[in-house]
Amino acid sequence: MDTKIYQEDQIAEASKQIVNGELVAFPTETVYGLGANALLADSVRKVFEVKGRPSDNPLIVHIAEVSQLEEYVDNFHPLTEKIIKNFWPGPLTMIFCIKKGSLPRVVTGGLSTAAFRMPDNKKTLDFIRLSGVPIVGPSANTSGKPSPTTAAHVYHDMKGKIAGILDDGPTQIGVESTVLDLSDPKKPPMILRPGAVTKEVLEKVLQTTIEIDSHLVKENEAPKAPGMKYKHYSPDTQVMMIRPEDWEAAIQWGKENHQVIGILAGPKVIERWGKEVRETFSYTDNSIKAATHGLFAGLRALDDSQKLSIIYVEIFSEEGLGEAYMNRLKKAAGQKYFEK
Ligand code: TXA
Ligand code: MG
Repeated sequence: MDTKIYQEDQIAEASKQIVNGELVAFPTETVYGLGANALLADSVRKVFEVKGRPSDNPLIVHIAEVSQLEEYVDNFHPLTEKIIKNFWPGPLTMIFCIKKGSLPRVVTGGLSTAAFRMPDNKKTLDFIRLSGVPIVGPSANTSGKPSPTTAAHVYHDMKGKIAGILDDGPTQIGVESTVLDLSDPKKPPMILRPGAVTKEVLEKVLQTTIEIDSHLVKENEAPKAPGMKYKHYSPDTQVMMIRPEDWEAAIQWGKENHQVIGILAGPKVIERWGKEVRETFSYTDNSIKAATHGLFAGLRALDDSQKLSIIYVEIFSEEGLGEAYMNRLKKAAGQKYFEK
């Protein structure tokens, strides 16, 4: 199959493919998604196939109008309206109990709940509207690889396997949406996956305490967001997290042990240590926002060079957006920090 790159004036053509049951990747403000008609079980099955994704890991249903929600959900959490008003379209996914049989079983992995999101990307909202159906969209990477933040990343993983990619340049945020569990109207919302809509912002807007349940679950535990149990976002090269005080020791250790080192960090770290290693990828500035934007792109770039044996990555404090950055980085690094 030839994988076509669709430009802005070809959105209608891309939606036609979705209606016909084909797969088309689409841009969002977070990462690129792998789109299929959520109402066609066979198309959704193809999504699992081309990603190599375990079938018990349910998908997010992307919609363009709030009214689409009512077809699938009737028992709404009391905070739903307020959340929609403040955060949709945007990087926030909501989990609700769904009306029995309203979505194919393959979408929900057999759960009685489903995830919904309205992405903040004009082309994709048009694409969903023109398709006339809700569109499932897991991140458009091969399962286990870093999520794609450019159409080129998607092409790298999906070339020949899907009908096309709707191109809109690099995504703004760089990590996937916050997943918020609202499935029990009597319980406060709970964050199942941290993202750009942070705990702090949610608490301020909703005037309630919000727990994060994104602990890295072990194989035999039943995680609330099924996706959290799989090893995620990891490049083939070993990744190691470096605390600010450990750069010198880490580079010393690498040299002594014949490691070919790459560094992924902000300009400050790169300026100080970049000359000592084989390759670097610099975030555009030293902020957590730039780091989050560049994390997956940097991991992919350094991994693709195939010259390295280890990638050292800068850590940030786990508050605000740092919660999402560190959540993804820890998975890529398999929890490994450099220890002196
Ligand atoms: O930013 C994003 O959310 C991107 C873009 C493309 O929209 N999509 C994305 O999808 O990250 P995916 O499939 O890679 O991640 C969906 C996450 C998984 O961790 C999955 O387990 C969880 O949401 N999830 C989906 N349905 C769920 C449900 N009913 N209950 C709990 N967790 C659910
Ligand atoms: Mg994913």
